[in-house]
Amino acid sequence: MNTEAFNYRDTGKILSKGNVTWKSPSNIALIKYWGKSGLQLPKNASLSFTLNASSTSTTLEFRPVDNVVNTPEFEVYVDTEKTDVFKPKIAVFFDRIKNYVPFITDYKYSIFTKNTFPHSSGIASSASGMSALALCVMEMEKKLNPSITEDYFYKKASFLARLGSGSAARSVKGSIVVWGVHEAIPDSSDLYGIGFPFPIHPVFKNFHDTILLVDKGQKPVSSSLGHNLMENHPYAASRFVQATDNLHKLSIVLQKGLLKEFIEIVESEALSLHAMMMTSNPYFILMQPNTLAIINKIWQFRKETNTHVCFTLDAGANVHVLFPDDEKTEINDFINNELLPYCQNNQYICDNIGTGSTSISQRS
Ligand code: PMV
Repeated sequence: MNTEAFNYRDTGKILSKGNVTWKSPSNIALIKYWGKSGLQLPKNASLSFTLNASSTSTTLEFRPVDNVVNTPEFEVYVDTEKTDVFKPKIAVFFDRIKNYVPFITDYKYSIFTKNTFPHSSGIASSASGMSALALCVMEMEKKLNPSITEDYFYKKASFLARLGSGSAARSVKGSIVVWGVHEAIPDSSDLYGIGFPFPIHPVFKNFHDTILLVDKGQKPVSSSLGHNLMENHPYAASRFVQATDNLHKLSIVLQKGLLKEFIEIVESEALSLHAMMMTSNPYFILMQPNTLAIINKIWQFRKETNTHVCFTLDAGANVHVLFPDDEKTEINDFINNELLPYCQNNQYICDNIGTGSTSISQRS
């Protein structure tokens, strides 16, 4: 599929005032996307667990305008409070998607959004937020053109979400999503995310992700800047090969339920991502002393107990602690007793693998 497949078929219709609401989950990459080209195209394929508890709900209220403008007018409310903080990012998003959804300039908007996770928890809301907004826009398209198929609806939602934030392409569907062309994943695409196309071993079906909030502050380096630093990075080429190779291996691991190999791939991916940051020019470190303390505790506990707890990291200091459901009692005790002291104000989020976005629009 190329981008033309997502061109809009004009029906000449205009919607009267209304609103649509979607809830989208966050996701955690196991194979990391770090480095992009063109308009949000990944340098390597990535794979993520869709989360369940960490999500964004967005209502898009639309009102037709008399004079069509180049960029739609909109206001943003976060938790009912009006704010301009997200306006620049959303304006760029509207600008990038308008060739594919030209009807958006026929309306002005109020966007009401809220996250289940605390503000400035260090958890990026861009994946869940851009995914929820893209799904709202697609629901408008569906109202204008009810004949679009469900497959097209979700593919295009992921395609649009990607233009807002790369990893948002992986937040539309559950429970394991691949984004980026990969030879072992049939129908994979750089343009949108697809559900992992093979049967997943039961051990991964209710996998846990407890997110330890080590540092809730603003990241010193944005992910956009980090992606850009992969250009001219001395290790970029081998990193993209490594990620591709790891995705190949992880695909087999997920189908066969190989927990030991899962741990090796996932932890290596997390540390490789941070190694890229530490070796770029300029270099930077997003891990904090407590991030390393938690990693060491996890390694020590795993060795002593033979459990299958492991970690991954996002572009930040927080630690995602991953473990299978049948080990949850022992591992939850370990987290409570030994890891929480390393979190800011003992804060953490209990999450697990989820099923994807849901529409919560009032059907009229
Ligand atoms: O979607 P972005 O541009 O915020 O980049 C996300 C990058 C990582 O979270 C570090 C990795 C990933 O694949 O999600």
